Amino acid sequence: MKKVTDAPFLQDFVEATQNIYRLGWAERNGGNISYLIGEDEAKEYLDLDNALRTIPTGFDARGVEGKIFLVTGAGKYFRNVIKDPAANLGIIRVGADGASADVLWGFKDGGRPTSEFSAHILSHRARLSVDPENKIVMHCHPNYTMAMTYSHELDEAKFTRTLWSLNTECIVDFPDGVGVLPWMPCGTPEIGAATAEKLKEFRIVVWAIHGIYAVGRNMDEAFGLIETVEKTATTYLIGSHLPIVNRIPDDGLAELCSIYDKKNYRKDFLPELSEKYK
Ligand code: 13P
Ligand code: ZN
Repeated sequence: MKKVTDAPFLQDFVEATQNIYRLGWAERNGGNISYLIGEDEAKEYLDLDNALRTIPTGFDARGVEGKIFLVTGAGKYFRNVIKDPAANLGIIRVGADGASADVLWGFKDGGRPTSEFSAHILSHRARLSVDPENKIVMHCHPNYTMAMTYSHELDEAKFTRTLWSLNTECIVDFPDGVGVLPWMPCGTPEIGAATAEKLKEFRIVVWAIHGIYAVGRNMDEAFGLIETVEKTATTYLIGSHLPIVNRIPDDGLAELCSIYDKKNYRKDFLPELSEKYK
């Protein structure tokens, strides 16, 4: 059996927590990530027949029973993950009843999965229903994205259009747009269910006055989505004391989608499209 700490999925994961911490998007225990590991890959590193212990999920996780996830621990700091992965992370397998999960590795101090476990697992289930190759659910607290939710309308069409219109890369990177949830208490099955519902439609969900969720087929995709939203929220807020006199017009955004072959962009988020692009 190979060492879990040598596994590419673990190394990728640790690197992501380091980058997010260094960028200032995960203060204290802020942020959580989960990574769906295929059974064939997992069994190179883990004894899948012998759980260390079994824990309650606290919600109905049926739909992803038997699936294996590497996930950050509740109350654990991204800053510390690199120093001691087995204390700050764990690998769990969801039980057949969806009400329990086996711990296969990690959480060595008696830890448990993130308080946003329901948001993560329900989001994986929702995302897999529209993209069977999805592997990552990532949550953190990027500064400017959070600040944008203090002053920008939370209407997701308007929020998306602001981002798209202020950075040429945005519509190319997320033509599917950005979902937005109003402020809600976190760590509950309700916010988990609301996030999962949005992730059937979007790969990015902004949690007002809290942070962001993104999904992807790999770490780069999820990270890149958050990075692009945060970059654009930053430039938007740098200029927010000045009137915006130049932005990409709706037809310009449609033209970008045509150049980069993005067929399914959210035309319904662009109210000023000309007949040519409707
Ligand atoms: P956890 O420490 O439980 O992962 O919580 C951090 C967080 O960001 C809550 O939204
Ligand atoms: Zn959070």
